[in-house]
Amino acid sequence: MIVLGIETSCDETAAAVVDGGRKILSNVVASQDDVHGPYGGIVPELASRRHIEVIVPVVRRALDTAGVALRDLDGLAVTQGPGLVGSLLVGCSVAKSMAYAARKPLVGVNHLEGHIYAAFLEEHPPDYPFVALVVSGGHTALYVAHERGRYECIGQTRDDAAGEAFDKVAKLLGLGYPGGPIIERVGATGDPRAIRFPVANMSDGAPDFSFSGIKTAVSLHVRRAGPLGTAQVADIAASFQATVVKMLVRKTVKAAQRLGIRRLLLTGGVAANSPLRAALQAECEERGYTLHVPSRRLCTDNAAMIAAAGHDRLESGERAPLTMNARPDLVLA
Ligand code: KG4
Ligand code: ZN
Repeated sequence: MIVLGIETSCDETAAAVVDGGRKILSNVVASQDDVHGPYGGIVPELASRRHIEVIVPVVRRALDTAGVALRDLDGLAVTQGPGLVGSLLVGCSVAKSMAYAARKPLVGVNHLEGHIYAAFLEEHPPDYPFVALVVSGGHTALYVAHERGRYECIGQTRDDAAGEAFDKVAKLLGLGYPGGPIIERVGATGDPRAIRFPVANMSDGAPDFSFSGIKTAVSLHVRRAGPLGTAQVADIAASFQATVVKMLVRKTVKAAQRLGIRRLLLTGGVAANSPLRAALQAECEERGYTLHVPSRRLCTDNAAMIAAAGHDRLESGERAPLTMNARPDLVLA
């Protein structure tokens, strides 16, 4: 089955063509960093406007690169939620119009399931069951994937998403947007043990995350420290990153241990972070667990992962009616 995936849930306009749910024929991602950079964060109205401007050329390029015409497609998959409503609407409207015009089956895909399916685009996809840590700009959650399409949420953030914390701390340090890659780059020259930031632990022992405390701690530290030199900024970035990594790795490994599941998946935009990938890999090796981490370009938002998730849904006979609509609060489990 050849599936066209469309993704516009946040600030990336993306389209991809995937064959058999596994083979990427094209994967086009138009970033909006230039639009939101000056604001240090995503401006939803500007995001939807940019999606409208670029969605048609992006889809066209995905089809051209794959060497397929609309009539060659076996189906379309589009991100239905969660995300920004105005942004989601653009992708959903385009996908519905194309499906209607070309008389092709359509499915709506949960963006978080898409992130999980990024692992199935790699050479060695995970067997079920596995524990998935999905860390992005909008979400930070732990799922058990019991079988194809059956997920259980076993923990999530109680406040900010990890990526959001990276973005806010980068803004605080005057480093620009998006914060994750910049913090990683700047932090590489700093000392991760320079500053002790607090590690959040849930008083009820739940495998949930919290990143608002560390964000406040960084903000207080910056205010107290006064004007910062390059080396100090690097130390703050490195120490912040190390603490976030510690929180993510600890909770994930603990959850897997408790469940007796020895296969883990790390995915979502923040999974592009090298120290996080390395730390979780080291913990997994120590315990004899298998860790699956998609390549960086598949961890951050893309439409190939949406096409892959959509492929399995189309294959199982699922169809979205033309009344299908964007669902900003869609949950996975
Ligand atoms: O999954 P994603 O592309 O979009 C959402 O679904 O939110 O994730 C974007 C988030 C942003 O917060 C960005 O700062 C973060 O992922 N990110 C990173 C890195 N690359 C992207 N965070 C830490 N280290 C990175 N290398
Ligand atoms: Zn995402």
